[in-house]
Amino acid sequence: MTHSYQLFRIAKAACMALCLGIATTASAESDIRVRHLTSEQNIVTISEARKYLLLPVQDSAPEAQVTIVKDNMPVGVAFNVRLARERVDYYVPLELSAYEGDDVSINVMGLPAQAFCWKHLKLSDTFDLTNREKFRPLYHHTPLFGWMNDPNGMFYKDGVYHLYFQHNPYGSLWGNMSWGHSVSTDLVNWEFQGIPIRPDAWGTIFSGSAVIDHENTAGFGKGAIVAIYTSDKPSSWGSSQSQSIAYSLDNGQTFTKYEGNPVLTSDSRRDFRDPKVFWYAPGKHWVMILSAGHEAQLFSSTNLKEWKHESSFGAKQGSHSGVWECPDLVELPIEGTKEKRWVFICNVNPGGPFGGSAAQYFIGSFDGKTFTNEAPTETKWMDWGKDNYATVTFSNAPDGRVIAMGWMSNIQYQPSLPTRQYRGANTIARDLTLYRKNGDLFLKSAPAKEMEKARGAKKAFPTFTVKKSHSITPLLDDNKGAYELTMNIRNHGASRIAFTLSNDKGEKVLMYYDVQRKKFVMERSESGLTDFSRDFPALTAAPVHNTDNIQLRIFVDRSSIEVFGDGGEYVMTNLVYPSEPYNTLTFETVGGNYEVKNLNVYKLK
Ligand code: FRU
Repeated sequence: MTHSYQLFRIAKAACMALCLGIATTASAESDIRVRHLTSEQNIVTISEARKYLLLPVQDSAPEAQVTIVKDNMPVGVAFNVRLARERVDYYVPLELSAYEGDDVSINVMGLPAQAFCWKHLKLSDTFDLTNREKFRPLYHHTPLFGWMNDPNGMFYKDGVYHLYFQHNPYGSLWGNMSWGHSVSTDLVNWEFQGIPIRPDAWGTIFSGSAVIDHENTAGFGKGAIVAIYTSDKPSSWGSSQSQSIAYSLDNGQTFTKYEGNPVLTSDSRRDFRDPKVFWYAPGKHWVMILSAGHEAQLFSSTNLKEWKHESSFGAKQGSHSGVWECPDLVELPIEGTKEKRWVFICNVNPGGPFGGSAAQYFIGSFDGKTFTNEAPTETKWMDWGKDNYATVTFSNAPDGRVIAMGWMSNIQYQPSLPTRQYRGANTIARDLTLYRKNGDLFLKSAPAKEMEKARGAKKAFPTFTVKKSHSITPLLDDNKGAYELTMNIRNHGASRIAFTLSNDKGEKVLMYYDVQRKKFVMERSESGLTDFSRDFPALTAAPVHNTDNIQLRIFVDRSSIEVFGDGGEYVMTNLVYPSEPYNTLTFETVGGNYEVKNLNVYKLK
C-alpha cells in the first residue's frame, strides 16, 4: 500500500467519523482506527497489511465478542476475548495474514469506548512466544500461550507423537475451544504446530480423538488421519452437542472438515460428547465410545461417517457425582500372564476422590458392541492426586504399547492457577498395563519408558538408615526445579515412613506412608502459593498393597509432583507452586527404622 493512499484512507476514516458524529479513538498506531458506534459496539479498521493484530487481554474483564468483517460480511465465526478494560495482563495474536492486502474491519460488541484496550491494540508481524512464566514446567507439555484443557486426538505415526489439545487461542481462560497441535518424537520435548481445527457453524471444537484410516474406509484417502470431535453449539434455543469429523492428508498438520458434518447427533442428550474411536479388528469395524451424561454410549461404523448405537454402559457403576467425560476403551495385558482385559477409562467431574475432576476405570470384557464390567461395585481411580483429568490414550502407539496422557489439573481451580501467558499442562506420558493383587485386577500406570532417556546428570546418594530423621540438602547444586527422584525403601518396623520436599522459604510438601492403614499420603497445604483457590490446599491419599519394600519414582517439574509407587501400581499427581525449587529432602520415621537405598536425583532438562 502506498504512503499517500494510506494517508488518504486515514483522512477518509477521520472525516467519515466527524461527519457522522461518531466517537473515535486513535490507537497508538495510525493504521488502526476505532469507531465507537454505541456504548457497546465498536468497529476497528485496519489499513496496513500486517501478520497480527495483537489484542490486549485482562483476565478479569468480561468477554467481548469479536467478528472479522470484509466487504460488509462476517468472515468466519465470532469469538470472545476478554479485552482489557483497566490494564493489560498479556496480548493474544489475531491472525490477519489471511486478509493480506485487503481492508479488514473488526466488529467488537460488549466493550465501552473508555476501555483501556482501544489505545493498546498493536499491529505486528511477530508474536513473542518467549516464556514469561516461572512456574512453566520444563519437561511437561504446555501450550506456548493461552488456555489448555483435555488432550485430544493423540496418535502416533512414522516416529512422531501427535498431541492435540483443547485450546483457547484468545486467552488463558476457557473459551473459543479449538484444537491446538504439538508434536514430539520422544514424548518429552514438544513442539507447537499451530491450531489446525477451529470453530465453525456447527460449534466450537470440543474433545475427541483421531485415527489413521489405513484402509481408506471413509474415502478421504488411504492413511488419512481422521479426527472425530464434538461440535458444541450453545444457544438460547437449546444447546446441542454433536459429533463431527475432519481429515488430514498431511499427517495431521492441516485438516479439512467433512462436508456432511455433523455425523452423529442426539435428540435427547445435552451432554453428548468426547468421542474416542478405535478399530475393532475382530469385527472389522470402528467403535466410538462417548459420554452421554451419566453413561457412556457405544456406536459402531464401517466408514467413520454412519454410526449405529450398540450399547450403553454406566448405570449404577462407579462414581456418578458429576457427568462422565472423555471416555476411552483399551485392551491391556495382565502382567505375568498371557491374558488380556478391556479397560474402560472414564473421567468424571465433579466426583473425584479429593474433590473436582478425576479419572476412574473399570476392568472387564468387550465383544465389539458391549462392555461388561467384571467388578461392578468398586470405584477404582487411575491417579490418587487431584491433578490428572481427561486421561486418554494414543491411537496407533508403537510396539503394542498403550500410552496415556492426562490434563494435569483440576476443573475446580484451573482458571485461578497462578500463571498468565498460558494455563494448563499435561502429565508425563504413562504406559498402561494391568496387574493382579490378592485376586483382584488393577491398572498400572508406569512412567513412559522415554522418561529414562530424558534423564540428565545423576546425583547418587549412599544407602542410609532413618532411625529418627535424615536430611539431604542440596538435592541438586544447580536446581532448576525439574528433576526425577528415585529410591527404594526397606521398612524395619516403622509405622510411618515420611519424607518432605522443602525449600529455604519454608515451603514444603509432606509425603508419608501410613503403614497400618496401608496408605501413601501427600499434603500440599504449605507447598508454596496455595491461596488462589480454597480447593487447592489438599491432602491426597492412595491405597497401597506394600509398605515393606517400596520402590519410588518421583517427578518434580517446577509446579508439579508425580509420584509412581512400585512401578506405577499407584500414582499421585499434584500441582504445587513453590516460590523457589524444593532443594531439601528430609526423611523421618515413627516406630521402627527404615533403610533408603538407590536414592538418585536426575536432572531432567
Ligand atoms: C472435559 C471437557 C470435555 C469437553 C471439553 C471442553 O474437561 O469438559 O467434556 O469436551 O472439556 O473443553
